[in-house]
Amino acid sequence: MFRCMSCGADAPKWAGQCSGCGDWNTLAEELDVPSPASVLAQPPTPPVPITAVRSSDGRPVPTGLSEVDRVLGGGLVPGSVTLVGGEPGVGKSTLVLQLMGARARAGATVLYVTGEESADQVRLRADRLDALSEHLLLAAETSLPHVIAHLDQLRPEVCVVDSIQTLQDPQYSSAPGSVTQVRECAHQLVQAAKRTGTTVLLVGHVTKEGQLAGPRVLEHVVDTVLSFEGDRHHALRLLRAQKHRFGSTEELGLFAMASDGLVPVPDPSSMFLGDRRPGIPGTVITPALEGHRPLLVEVQTLVAPSTLAQPRRSTQGLDNGRLALLLAVLDRRAQMPIAANDVYAMAVGGVKVVEPGADLALCVALASAFVGRPVGDSLVACGEVGLGGELRQVGRIDRRLAEASRMGFTSAIVPRSVPSVDAPIELLRVPTLAAALDLLDLRRT
Ligand code: TYD
Ligand code: MG
Repeated sequence: MFRCMSCGADAPKWAGQCSGCGDWNTLAEELDVPSPASVLAQPPTPPVPITAVRSSDGRPVPTGLSEVDRVLGGGLVPGSVTLVGGEPGVGKSTLVLQLMGARARAGATVLYVTGEESADQVRLRADRLDALSEHLLLAAETSLPHVIAHLDQLRPEVCVVDSIQTLQDPQYSSAPGSVTQVRECAHQLVQAAKRTGTTVLLVGHVTKEGQLAGPRVLEHVVDTVLSFEGDRHHALRLLRAQKHRFGSTEELGLFAMASDGLVPVPDPSSMFLGDRRPGIPGTVITPALEGHRPLLVEVQTLVAPSTLAQPRRSTQGLDNGRLALLLAVLDRRAQMPIAANDVYAMAVGGVKVVEPGADLALCVALASAFVGRPVGDSLVACGEVGLGGELRQVGRIDRRLAEASRMGFTSAIVPRSVPSVDAPIELLRVPTLAAALDLLDLRRT
């Protein structure tokens, strides 16, 4: 039998594309064995009234890392299972080791199961991260029954498995990292977590191509899925909840990867704006929103005459399709003949800004680069640009403008319908993109 390594769908024979999720080259052969009799022989659980169920058990315990607690809505819930997914090298092992170090220092017994690195490699890293504590127990282990036995015997407060793809249940003959192994191991760890009250953190690798059995097969099994993201060439790391049974998935945690581990970034706007050089044409600040968190991001563009038949369009941290669309709107609705130029656009600092709220800033930046005149240093731009060249409001404008005001910006160019806000910032309300460019004197060269 064949099974998709990405979504877990079964297929009777091999095919290039999975019929379940449409991903390519993800089908792999799987050998299944029937469930052992012990699982089938478990007694049924009698139903009880919901009011008779204790609700006090689900209180989150702070982890000691403020940015993680922010994402989790307070901390880790005892007995819950959390998957920490991310690309190799993004810093998952660093993050979980710091978490474990913090809990161990607070006096809790924690168990770190390492299947990828040897115990002395983890020790070396813990030295560097200042995470040493005798309450932090290390087990270099890849066998699932041994891990479960450790849980039952030690009853640690938290157990990390780094990574779920290295664990193996000897009942199944498929290789570690296969869908069967990953799913079975996760299942049994979930049961062990509920039984012992241990909080379990599973580290899982995902590649862009989805080559390994990714979090998608685990999403149903675990309580919380955190994704850890970041650009290799930047220090910034973002932690988000993709699924969270105990709270909102709207919060964002921000870290910087430093030589001594992950450092929380409580004030990202100052970090993003730290190296800004005012007075350059083509750059505009926009108050973007990541989850609930407003971030002031600098949008930079460069417009240069092209020698190519098909001018170059290049983006970093922004959406390519959105850039093409906005260039067309500038051309057709604001009569700006920009199409024959090479256009480069980026969001500075390693962030990705894909929300439509950045449209207006990108358009203003493009116009400013095109005419070669800077916009004022104390101005932010925020709004969605429609295909008719009209400006539309975006969500939580009050939060965005409050953040802009906090960072010292004194005026904001926004869509006409934006209501008054409580922050000391002047609102320049405009109905259309063309009106916005007129107001900023960016129409004619
Ligand atoms: P790691 O946690 O091993 O990533 P993952 O478990 O997701 O594969 O960390 C990977 C990178 O982090 C590594 O290439 C080096 C960098 N790093 C630092 O910059 N500072 C540090 O203190 C540590 C521990 C790692
Ligand atoms: Mg690792």
